[in-house]
Amino acid sequence: MKMPEHGSDRAQVLAELEQFRANDLEWRSGRVWAYVYDAGREVEEVGKQAFARFMTENALDPTAFPSLLRLENEVVAMAAAHLGGDEHTVGSFTSGGTESILLAVKTARDWAREHRPHIARPEIVLPVTAHAAFQKAAHYLCVEPVLVPVDPVTFKADVDAIRKAITPNTILLVGSAVSYAHGVVDPIPEIGRLALEHELLFHVDGCIGGFLLPYFRRFGATHVDFDLTVPGVTSISMDLHKYAFCPKGASVVLYKSAELRRHQIFACSTWTGYTIVNPTVQSTKSGGPLAAAWAVMHHLGDEGYAALARRIFDASRRLIAEIPKIPDLRILGTPELCLIAFTSDTVNVFHVIDEMKERDWYVQPQLGFLGSKENIHLCVTPGTSAWVDPFLTDLRACVETAKAIPADHSADGLRESLAAIDPKSLTPEMFSQMLAMAGLQGVELPRRMAGINEMLNALPAPLTESVLTQFVNELFQHKPA
Ligand SMILES: Cc1ncc(COP(=O)(O)O)c(C=O)c1O
Repeated sequence: MKMPEHGSDRAQVLAELEQFRANDLEWRSGRVWAYVYDAGREVEEVGKQAFARFMTENALDPTAFPSLLRLENEVVAMAAAHLGGDEHTVGSFTSGGTESILLAVKTARDWAREHRPHIARPEIVLPVTAHAAFQKAAHYLCVEPVLVPVDPVTFKADVDAIRKAITPNTILLVGSAVSYAHGVVDPIPEIGRLALEHELLFHVDGCIGGFLLPYFRRFGATHVDFDLTVPGVTSISMDLHKYAFCPKGASVVLYKSAELRRHQIFACSTWTGYTIVNPTVQSTKSGGPLAAAWAVMHHLGDEGYAALARRIFDASRRLIAEIPKIPDLRILGTPELCLIAFTSDTVNVFHVIDEMKERDWYVQPQLGFLGSKENIHLCVTPGTSAWVDPFLTDLRACVETAKAIPADHSADGLRESLAAIDPKSLTPEMFSQMLAMAGLQGVELPRRMAGINEMLNALPAPLTESVLTQFVNELFQHKPA
């Protein structure tokens, strides 16, 4: 495609854009249990209008736009107050959980360069349930991720395993509150003690759980302390674009002190252009997400959030009680918030997902890894909370339908031959052959994904990663003009 020679008027362009949505997930239906944290039209509208008003202002230079400086300081202050910060707490507004985590790892790396200069190959200890963003950060920042197993029943970080993984090269410990995969809170106070004992930094990933956990506690939920009040915790992340219902591009990373946060900031004066000093990854940075976050937080306030959290709490409790009553299904661990992973020992969960899709539900597959069996993952939101009963009815029916689908062993041979492939040697030609063998035409996915999910689930992780990389490399290809 080439840029059109003549422009079109606003209405036409916007109408065309709308048509592009035809095959998107219909998240407003309340039937989508992932990706969108829907708190209703009014909240959405507040966020959109604030976003639009500030989207052109540039946070590159907060002295040129004091409005953005004020908004960021206020959003960070609200986040710090929510997470047990004190007068020493500082933080930054970032584009999302991944950026917050990337910055926390960079801060740890650069802190260690100053305080532990003897460490040549810094390591971060990651329970396998820590979000993949930590491994991405390690990859980008040349830090070694040291994966440790978690408790096989609770899926919480195993403190002894973390202790054993600490070496003279360790620079950072990590815990989740809650983990995405199983929705449980790691033993943060114990990990904090370990961090203090070994004089290590300790980041708590509260990206998905940090905002709601305090509300769930008000409703009577019990979980361990996880925030900045816990001795040993030196930084924490919390996404506003998840359970604070702000438009996407909104997270915060908080630090115990400005002295620590200093290591996050990048300044450069060895070039010929304008002065560069960036606290976060982006340089030119829209004020839109920040203004939208400020607006949504002020629009809802604590009362508004408590009301939304209550709906999520009630719906989650019901799902956690009812799902195990469905013969063949069991929940992994004991979810402490509103993220639920369930699996089966008797029915193929990937078929259940496809059957649910036939009934217009979107539920997310999670592949198996190190003791966490392949499963179905739900994020309960205010949008989905009203749909629990029809969801459970359809889930029951879909388990029965999926059970009746005969097991397909045709991929077994293929799997074996694929497992022998060296991931590094996977060429685009081999990838195309694999797609053809799996019955796919190019990278267009079939409606029923069970076959592909089973395949991905069975491959060794490095090969799955190569296949996914190749897939996305082909997916994002423009048509020649
Ligand atoms: C616990 C946790 N950490 C980090 C992230 C990454 O956040 P983002 O997708 O905003 O980059 C997620 C995303 O779901 C998460 O659940």
